[in-house]
Amino acid sequence: THIEPFLIIGNWKMNGDRELLQRFSNDIEVTAPNGCKQIICPPSVLVTTACDAFADHSIDVGGQDCSQHLSGAFTGDLSPNMLVEAGARWVILGHSERRSSYSETSEEVAEKTAAAIKAGLTPIICIGESATDREASMHLEVIVDQLEASTPETLQAGEAAIAYEPVWAIGSGVSASEDQVREAHDVIAKWLIQRRVPLPVLYGGSVKATSAASLSAIQNVDGFLIGGASLDPESFNTIGANV
Ligand code: G3P
Repeated sequence: THIEPFLIIGNWKMNGDRELLQRFSNDIEVTAPNGCKQIICPPSVLVTTACDAFADHSIDVGGQDCSQHLSGAFTGDLSPNMLVEAGARWVILGHSERRSSYSETSEEVAEKTAAAIKAGLTPIICIGESATDREASMHLEVIVDQLEASTPETLQAGEAAIAYEPVWAIGSGVSASEDQVREAHDVIAKWLIQRRVPLPVLYGGSVKATSAASLSAIQNVDGFLIGGASLDPESFNTIGANV
């Protein structure tokens, strides 16, 4: 079973420009394939341009991070209210690159999540174990700990999405195996049911057009968070066509 619509989210990371947005808007069908919901998360300075480029499309636009504060003396930071004003409807939070490069903690991710929801955004909360965690067979424990600590107590059904991204599968070219994805998503789905907060659970980590069909068929996989393959309109659209 899946939560509908199937979410296909592109995380452009620190890539992309106006020209790429134009190509997306020209090359991508106005209606998403297979009833999917497509979302593009470009660098924040391109959010407004992206909203303009997708004005006639069903594609939503999201940010890649935001502050837990709404305004104030936080040089370089971006308030969730500002993302909303720029036209974003979603925001990726707690991506492993932010957790590792900027020492972002799960507690901060929970605060950011609460602030983003308050501002009217739907956060995409990222969790996932490292290769070392998995080698030590600690992956399920790490996933549940991150889930527990990265979600605010006040979280309600449907207010956010969870993205399971095993760190070792990101940018590696090889996604987690179907069994590995199934195991992790079952544990996350069970936790969400216990907490009575049904949320879509996305898989991320080297999703490609060729793996989209088999990964999307796994129970409790409600969408994808896509890095590299979201930078090309054809591959991004083909992923949707293949689910
Ligand atoms: O947030 C998506 C990302 O971390 C996965 O990247 O390039 O492995 O699809 P990629």
